[in-house]
Amino acid sequence: TRTQVGIVGGGPAGLMLSHLLAKQGISNVVIESRDHDTIANTHRAGILEQPSVAMLTDTGVDGRVLTVGDEHEGINLRFKGESHLLNFPELVDATVTLYAQNEVFIDLAAARARDGGDVRYESEVTEIFDLKTDTPKFRYRSVAEGADPDALQEVHCDVLVGADGSRSFCRRAVRDEPGHQDFTTEYPFAWFGILCEAPKSFPELIYANSPRGFALISQRSETVQRMYFQCDPNTNVDDWSEDRIWDELQSRVAGPDGFELKTGPIFDKTVLPFRSFVREPMSHGNLFLAGDAAHTVPPTGAKGLNLAFADVRVLFEALDSFYSTGSRALLDSYSDTALRRVWKAQNFSYWMTTMLHTTAEENPFSTRRSLGDLESVTSSVYGRQYLAECYTGWPNSRP
Ligand code: DHB
Repeated sequence: TRTQVGIVGGGPAGLMLSHLLAKQGISNVVIESRDHDTIANTHRAGILEQPSVAMLTDTGVDGRVLTVGDEHEGINLRFKGESHLLNFPELVDATVTLYAQNEVFIDLAAARARDGGDVRYESEVTEIFDLKTDTPKFRYRSVAEGADPDALQEVHCDVLVGADGSRSFCRRAVRDEPGHQDFTTEYPFAWFGILCEAPKSFPELIYANSPRGFALISQRSETVQRMYFQCDPNTNVDDWSEDRIWDELQSRVAGPDGFELKTGPIFDKTVLPFRSFVREPMSHGNLFLAGDAAHTVPPTGAKGLNLAFADVRVLFEALDSFYSTGSRALLDSYSDTALRRVWKAQNFSYWMTTMLHTTAEENPFSTRRSLGDLESVTSSVYGRQYLAECYTGWPNSRP
């Protein structure tokens, strides 16, 4: 196959890029190792910044994000058992939209199918090569049931994009190249995530710091709720009965105001480990990394998908400019431009994570200092504005 842009990875980043390129008449092929339904049923975060929503609505993907999604005007930061409401329109004239990431995938996949996009699911990349030439190439094989594992297909393109997630094949393929550096930090905790059938406990999201650790009370609909609590990374979900989970969650949001979560049957339990990671630069010859392939953030603050879409905006503009003018200038500056936002998001996600989580082993000084951080933010209009600006996302004109 010969195409202009080869895209490895058919998650939200790869499919959004494919959609934008196709609208400009730039041919592209997307290779994705999983099948459609596996991705559609993988639960991830659920908060979209306004520019992410606009990418879905203004480019003709789908308006479902506006009808099914839920606009949120703020969050509740809860600590010492007290609620502190941040109102985003008042603070920074912005809102966010709660719309689950797997719904974003479903909409994008449907739009690519509708528009005749070339998305090859259950196709595993085995090799990428000639990255420093103007015809980078890759080989892949079908991993569909009954497919011949030795039958390789080859794709030739002008530009190769690695949008293949946190365990990126593309990133690992160039890991030993001179000038490349990985930046990582680990956390001594993970999240225990549940989905349950229950009404909303509060109109907006609650981010709670408690002596027993962090909890996040999120939502999916009027009848399905998403909640998380900080846990040991080695936690086995089978050790956690429904009663034990509800006791733990209730204890983390409890306070003198008597606040209680509305409970109901739990139908999904997952332990989600996480880390902070950045690969620099985000390109190598004619290979460009986007989204989790280049960087992952801890989930607190829900920046992952928004950051991936921000990469895609920058990369799409660079490719559009390359194909309309022949100039490589924006492709050459892609990594530097994208990394400015990446590091702001890394800082925000790290800050939210460390401010809100607590561990029994930690120095009691750290626990008190985090509470001082939360007091500083919530007691000052500038502090609330700073958090609100980061949470709702930095303007596009400033990458
Ligand atoms: C959700 C996840 C997050 O990490 C977050 O900060 C907010 C919401 C969610 O899954 O709903």
